[in-house]
Amino acid sequence: MSTTAPLPALGRRILGSKVLAALTSPHGVDRYLEMINPMWAAQDVRARVVSVHRENPDSDAAPVATITLQPTATWRGHRAGQYVQVGLDLPGSAKRMTRCFTISSAASTPGEQITLTVRAHEEGQVSKYLVAAEPGTIVHLSQAQGDFTLDESPATPTNNHLLFVTGGSGITPAMSIVRTLLRDGYDGRAGRKVTFLHYARSPEDQIFADELAEIAAADNDVTVHLFHGDHVFSEFELRRLVPRHRDTDTWACGPAPMMELVVAAYDGAPEHRLRTEFFKAPKPAGSGSAEGDVTFARSGQEAPNSGATLLEQAEALGLSPEFGCRMGICFSCTSRKTEGTVRNVLTGTTSSMPDEDIQICVSAPEGDCTVEL
Ligand code: FES
Repeated sequence: MSTTAPLPALGRRILGSKVLAALTSPHGVDRYLEMINPMWAAQDVRARVVSVHRENPDSDAAPVATITLQPTATWRGHRAGQYVQVGLDLPGSAKRMTRCFTISSAASTPGEQITLTVRAHEEGQVSKYLVAAEPGTIVHLSQAQGDFTLDESPATPTNNHLLFVTGGSGITPAMSIVRTLLRDGYDGRAGRKVTFLHYARSPEDQIFADELAEIAAADNDVTVHLFHGDHVFSEFELRRLVPRHRDTDTWACGPAPMMELVVAAYDGAPEHRLRTEFFKAPKPAGSGSAEGDVTFARSGQEAPNSGATLLEQAEALGLSPEFGCRMGICFSCTSRKTEGTVRNVLTGTTSSMPDEDIQICVSAPEGDCTVEL
């Protein structure tokens, strides 16, 4: 058998058995398979970069690229709107770096190719590596995660209209959903319609521009409104374009300042009418107190509370806690808080429960706080 061929299903079943797992402990079967062929896996998910396409070649902003990935046969597929954790073993780094990226392609089935559309943030080692990746590069993947998906309101009636409000890179999950609707035969004949509002920095920064123009021009009952430059989201405009927006199942994803305005525009709407996904955690709001001390009990470190998230405060002390998305999505950073009050910087809610598992990337302490790190 060629080492480039996928691992046959029977082989996967045998290699996934508990007996073999025990025999190959502590490394596990996948560690050995990976040495023979990185695209062979019994349980893990890996992917080969097939191609990289630059989305904003004329922009002077950070590069954005769509990366097509061929996952191993262990990939179970995804629902439109979900994200995946991408792990990289970067040269010179002892620890695998993991970050979350939304899947921009339509819903996939097991083993099918997917695309990620990634902005290379200045400080983002993983995103910069992916945007410049050579075809053939192997990355580690999680299974798809997240519930920012096309589940319409089950309990409260809607007006048969779907609305997407996105900003910047937040367009990717909405594109995955719209691509899936169009691919799977969605059209307006059932009396349904889709409205897509997107805000970008400039026309040069507009990703998926050609495809959005095609969708807008086609006879498909999908209406696309693109806004550029100083034209920021406003409830007034939303009301003008979608007068019954509070009765409309809505998916919104974008930068935190825009998302705060979108959430306010749905104040009083039925629960679950608005689904949101923040792609960057907002800075802690000023409502919290930066008094007291933060103690990281296992490492014996203590410092005055700076008001930043516990992950940032731990890193400032030289600690290296596990993390993935750094935006409250993946739960990689979950740690045990033994005492003190923390505020979720995404939602503003506080919690003072002792012995509580918290996501330290989006938890800022208020006063004294002790975490098992
Ligand atoms: S790092 Fe993903 S939830 Fe904290």
